[in-house]
Amino acid sequence: MLHHSRAGHVVGCPEMNRMVSLVSPAMLVVLAMSSRAEAPPPLAEGPSAAEQEFIARHWRRPIPPQGPPPARFSPIERSLQPEACGACHPVQFADWQGSIHARSMGPGIAGQLVDLVRTDPLSARSCATCHAPIAEQRPELLEGGRWIANPDFDSALQGRGVVCASCHVREHQRFGPPRRDGSTASRAPRASLPHNGLTRTTAFLRSEFCASCHQFAPDGLALAGKPLENTYEEWRGSPAARRGLQCQSCHMPDRRHLWRGIHDADMVRSGLDIVLRAARPRYRSGDIARATLTITTPRVGHAFPTYVTPAVLVRAELIDSDGRAVPGSLEERLIGRQVPLDLSREIADTRIPPGGRFRLDYARQLPASGLRLRVTVTVLPDEFYTRFFETMLSAGAGGGDDQIRLALEATRRSAYTLYEKELALS
Ligand code: HEC
Ligand code: HEC
Ligand code: HEC
Ligand code: HEC
Ligand code: HEC
Repeated sequence: MLHHSRAGHVVGCPEMNRMVSLVSPAMLVVLAMSSRAEAPPPLAEGPSAAEQEFIARHWRRPIPPQGPPPARFSPIERSLQPEACGACHPVQFADWQGSIHARSMGPGIAGQLVDLVRTDPLSARSCATCHAPIAEQRPELLEGGRWIANPDFDSALQGRGVVCASCHVREHQRFGPPRRDGSTASRAPRASLPHNGLTRTTAFLRSEFCASCHQFAPDGLALAGKPLENTYEEWRGSPAARRGLQCQSCHMPDRRHLWRGIHDADMVRSGLDIVLRAARPRYRSGDIARATLTITTPRVGHAFPTYVTPAVLVRAELIDSDGRAVPGSLEERLIGRQVPLDLSREIADTRIPPGGRFRLDYARQLPASGLRLRVTVTVLPDEFYTRFFETMLSAGAGGGDDQIRLALEATRRSAYTLYEKELALS
């Protein structure tokens, strides 16, 4: 998040904050009460106590070092490199490599860390809890108030982001979901399998598995009464959750490791229904033309968009037969949770809540005949970061200057047109 480091600089991303302690007793009660009458696939009820316990243990921070591997492990079984896993799990590796999780130590964060590791190592380390979470990715450890070199540090892992081992390996043991048929028992003696087989648990199928990096704790930074990062809670109150859909159902369909989201136009389109309708089929010059744009999000499992970082821009204007805009006919709306760079307040929250809708009623007197109404919806997935990196560079980003420049360029390239339609009015 953007917070004031002890050195006085503004650093971070809006998501950075204290980690959730997922199993607060209050939440266990709420989750226990949230079992539902209808029981459709795949998982209708809240997580069991055993699943909660597994998730709390698996995601305790900081994640402890793996320790020594079992003596009988071959070099490839000992390795935590994604490529090593990929030798036997090529499909997941190929997916992961193209995903945002694999790029989560990109120039935007690395550029901030260059100076931060010296000026404010505690803040710098807090970034890693989500962006590069395993112990082997940390060059230094805090011991008794002093920073010491981390004996387990693996420089080849440091820049690799949320690696396979973050989610699947603890103390060199593999953990994963049940087989697709639901079974969990090992079919052969575990010691006879590569990496001694694995422990299979349904906790991998739960939204709670994702929450420690995608939800702030109740005592984390909140604006207007809502945590800055609130995806899990938004999901919990959503129609999707009532239907038993988890984060994985939409973001890992068929167990793919793509995690497509706001940066992927097809993914966003798959979640929305966008309808543009004129009130009447035909208008004449001088008439007041009326049209309505409606956006609903039946296949999104949280607010659209869920974070403060994207902005979605809706534009409606009249155009003539040459495609020129009619002056004064433009209507613009912003869908997003707007915050200033210092995160001091919420300017507005115009996101589409789960189950909700966005509606733009357009009405204009037509100055001529032959006009059409053009509606565009543009997504700027990194709108906040464009402003943030621009401000950082104008203040001087120090040793990270070059990387921040690259990151800024990337935020500008990520914008795309989600929807464009021209409606004949006469
Ligand atoms: C030498 C080959 C090999 C390597 C290297 C390897 N695995 Fe595996 N992995 C296997 C085999 C074989 C199974 C099936 C075990 C079983 O069915 O019990 C498996 C099963 C799994 C499963 C469960 C798969 C399923 O079908 O449900 C996960 C998750 C997993 N491995 C993760 C990893 C990760 C993460 C790494 C790297 C840190 C890794 N593996 C490295 C061979 C390998
Ligand atoms: C609670 C987990 C969490 C922590 C802690 C965290 N982040 Fe993030 N960060 C995220 C998530 C989730 C996103 C993706 C959503 C978005 O783009 O805002 C993100 C995105 C970013 C981005 C934009 C994408 C990119 O790679 O350029 C930057 C930059 C960033 N974080 C920097 C930081 C810095 C610096 C810190 C530490 C001061 C930090 N983050 C701490 C979860 C976290
Ligand atoms: C952010 C967490 C995360 C990361 C990173 C991750 N996985 Fe997974 N993986 C999961 C989850 C969750 C599932 C179960 C998904 C489901 O069932 O919907 C899973 C399932 C699997 C399976 C079982 C697939 C099947 O068809 O049954 C394998 C194998 C696997 N992962 C390997 C890997 C490898 C290899 C990497 C790195 C290249 C990796 N995973 C990275 C969370 C992760
Ligand atoms: C160890 C922390 C961690 C865990 C666990 C984790 N994520 Fe993430 N996730 C991140 C970070 C960090 C980013 C942002 C990376 C960046 O942009 O630099 C991110 C980004 C994403 C995105 C972003 C897509 C976009 O277009 O911006 C999606 C979707 C996502 N995660 C889904 C999931 C799901 C589903 C799970 C659970 C199976 C999960 N994540 C578990 C840390 C995590
Ligand atoms: C019913 C399907 C569905 C479920 C369930 C769901 N998502 Fe999404 N998610 C989407 C779609 C579609 C998008 C793209 C539109 C958008 O950005 O909201 C998306 C976008 C995202 C993004 C991109 C950032 C942003 O600002 O929108 C993240 C991160 C994310 N989801 C995480 C999660 C997590 C974590 C969960 C579980 C707590 C979850 N999602 C549950 C469908 C779903």
